Amino acid sequence: MKIACIGTGFVGVVTSAVFAKLGNQVVGLDIDEKKIESLRQGIVPFYEPDLSDLLVETQKTGNLSFTTDYSQGIKDSDIVMIMVGTPSAPDGQADLKYVFAATESLAPHLKDGAIVIVKSTVPPGTNAKVREIIKAKTSVNFEMASVPEFLKEGTAVADTLHPDRAVIGVESDRARDILVELHKPLTSNVVIMKPESAQMCKYAANNYLATRITFINQIADLCEANGADIQEVIAGIGQDKRIGAHYWYPGLGYGGSCFPKDVKEIAAYAKSINENDSLFIKIDDLNSKRITRLMAGYDKLVGGFAGKTVSVLGLSFKPNTNDTRVAPCLEVIPWLLDHGAIVKATDPKAIEEIKPLLPPKVEYLNDVYEAVTGASVVILLVEWDEYKTLDLSKLSSLMTEPKYFIDTRNQYDSKVMQDAGLKYKGVGR
Ligand code: UGA
Repeated sequence: MKIACIGTGFVGVVTSAVFAKLGNQVVGLDIDEKKIESLRQGIVPFYEPDLSDLLVETQKTGNLSFTTDYSQGIKDSDIVMIMVGTPSAPDGQADLKYVFAATESLAPHLKDGAIVIVKSTVPPGTNAKVREIIKAKTSVNFEMASVPEFLKEGTAVADTLHPDRAVIGVESDRARDILVELHKPLTSNVVIMKPESAQMCKYAANNYLATRITFINQIADLCEANGADIQEVIAGIGQDKRIGAHYWYPGLGYGGSCFPKDVKEIAAYAKSINENDSLFIKIDDLNSKRITRLMAGYDKLVGGFAGKTVSVLGLSFKPNTNDTRVAPCLEVIPWLLDHGAIVKATDPKAIEEIKPLLPPKVEYLNDVYEAVTGASVVILLVEWDEYKTLDLSKLSSLMTEPKYFIDTRNQYDSKVMQDAGLKYKGVGR
């Protein structure tokens, strides 16, 4: 099939490359000349495992190309996917200006019978507006559809190639048949529904996962108050098939470019329809305040951060990405500096990305052992593989008293830490 992918951000690049790998003719479209030029050379502007190889491979086969020319990109496409960014508006709702701008640009070039898919995460009612914009600019027949994306950063290529399911929101049997055919090589587990339901699936999935994380964080806090260990509790509840043992890491709260934004959007949408008691308003509030609350506790624990050298491990929002959007360090490090700490920081991939976002006082080191040298407190923020198997005796010998290791991702055992001469603090234990 011939597909145009509008927007070469994270989802756009991954989706273009994956559909091209499956043998479709894909054109990636963006108004940013520089980005298009670098993608043509196989350079991905962010770190994502396996993506660069896929980009080079699919361009070599001729299945994938990039352009800034809407006419060239759209005129022959059977399917047009809109995957542009939807930044948050001041009231927390999604700002759809890029979705509507892309719609205005694509409309005059649309081929008769094309299917226009809004793949960006958008609130209910967006498809109707997109349809009106297109109708005002063309007389060809077209259909609207919604096919939300469920990929995770760090495993985006594998998630897209092997999704748990494809959710396809369509208005006609024809669109259903075309889109089922398109997704067949990826999964046979296709769920068909109305476009409005498909869009709500995306919000529901992300809000459920964010709620799940908030839930386990709340239970972790209760564990701390009564001597229970959250990891033992997770092992116990995880055996219940209705609950499951996965996606239960407690910590400093969820971050990244999706959960914080999607929860805020659903909270704002709930308010806009007078659902002022919405659970999601509370989830957003709890997550937003979590880091400050926990940092105050850590401050007491270590006898005050003032004057102490603190080593922060992990500057991205999670492992296997250099994405720093709503990364925990963006709150933790300014908090430490405000409370008089001297901060050394390290990360396997995100040092250059985080530098402009943090105060210049932070010292960055590539080597984790150099980063902990002279520190009296280490705070592990991101569970990169590199930080899961640290040489604890070496680490301890490089640190100065009181040698606290604050493990916000519960990667280590307290006993093993103590044996290495470190004072251990996990979350919920
Ligand atoms: C998330 C969803 O998992 C994807 O399904 C979705 O497609 C994507 O958002 C999106 O909307 O585009 P992502 O933001 O890449 O993917 O990252 P996750 O791995 O889900 O982690 C999100 C945040 O939750 C991170 O801060 C992570 O550290 C935190 N988290 C995750 C926990 O604190 N505990 C967990 O058990 C899992």
